[in-house]
Amino acid sequence: MLFPDYRPRRLRQSEGLRRLIRETVLTIDDLILPLFVIDGKGVKNPIPSMPGHFQLSVDNLIKTVKTAANAGIPAIMLFGIPDKKDPLATRAYAKDGIVQKTIKSLKNKVPEMVVITDVCLCQYTDHGHCGVVDGNVIDNDASLDLLARVALSHAKAGADMVAPSDMMDGRVAEIRQTLDENDLSRIPIMSYAAKYCSAYYGPFREAAHSAPQFGDRRTYQMDPANAVEAIREVSMDVEEGADIVMVKPALPYLDIIYRIREETDLPVAAYNVSGEYSMVKAAEKMGWIDGSKVMIETLTGIKRAGADMIITYFALEAAELINGSK
Ligand code: PBG
Ligand code: ZN
Repeated sequence: MLFPDYRPRRLRQSEGLRRLIRETVLTIDDLILPLFVIDGKGVKNPIPSMPGHFQLSVDNLIKTVKTAANAGIPAIMLFGIPDKKDPLATRAYAKDGIVQKTIKSLKNKVPEMVVITDVCLCQYTDHGHCGVVDGNVIDNDASLDLLARVALSHAKAGADMVAPSDMMDGRVAEIRQTLDENDLSRIPIMSYAAKYCSAYYGPFREAAHSAPQFGDRRTYQMDPANAVEAIREVSMDVEEGADIVMVKPALPYLDIIYRIREETDLPVAAYNVSGEYSMVKAAEKMGWIDGSKVMIETLTGIKRAGADMIITYFALEAAELINGSK
């Protein structure tokens, strides 16, 4: 395979040839659209750092979900912004909580859309942490029961899948057991298995009002410097009953996606997070990059690294581009 006998450019001469040898093809089947739901009617609050994304009331959210379904997107990831916060996140597992109500109308109006719910406490606690707080520490074991309650309330409301993002140790087992005891053994768990303590979550925290009110998330989310530890986190969640394992964020962690894909035979999800979206949108607005091309290159790269599915704020835009309707 040496020049001049071998010439790699031979197979790059035309789009037809390039299509024949293309190894990775991004499809609409790979995409999960994250959405933010808030109380009220007719609400569509723009999220300044995430152009094209909004805090939506249920009526408007349903419109967006119908558009997504028409574009062929198989699933959404739902985040709630509650009316009240308290130390024990009671609105996170209330029967009439924002997410629980939204799931019911969604499954009524757009039954074919797979509804995955983010399971965490941080939007619902007044201190903004993902678990229960005892003084200045996040109490792991005291958080497990509440997280399981959140997951159960989502599943009872009709969620198709629950996705715990809290990073407490042992939560997947607790959630699996609680679902099973309540006749919900059919509900899969997508575990945020290797979730890093990342500055790329900034725009999300503005959108979901979930920034910690003291300290940071370093005692529960992973150190960005660690890769081998991600394998341990993933194996733990697999043992505890996860059905899909997630790596988050995506772009600075493509090596982790690759390694996890090699380590497990479960489906691997990657979360292309808010800050990764905002950077592309900002550079596009400045006229510094071609936003659509960077979007497709980014998503293709995440898939090439080994992701079977990608949670991305680009989902609708990418689907419309792939469909040729934009
Ligand atoms: C909360 C949660 C976060 C994200 C998803 N669920 C933020 C955090 O951990 O502070 C980040 C999503 C994004 O940035 O797009 N548990
Ligand atoms: Zn959280």
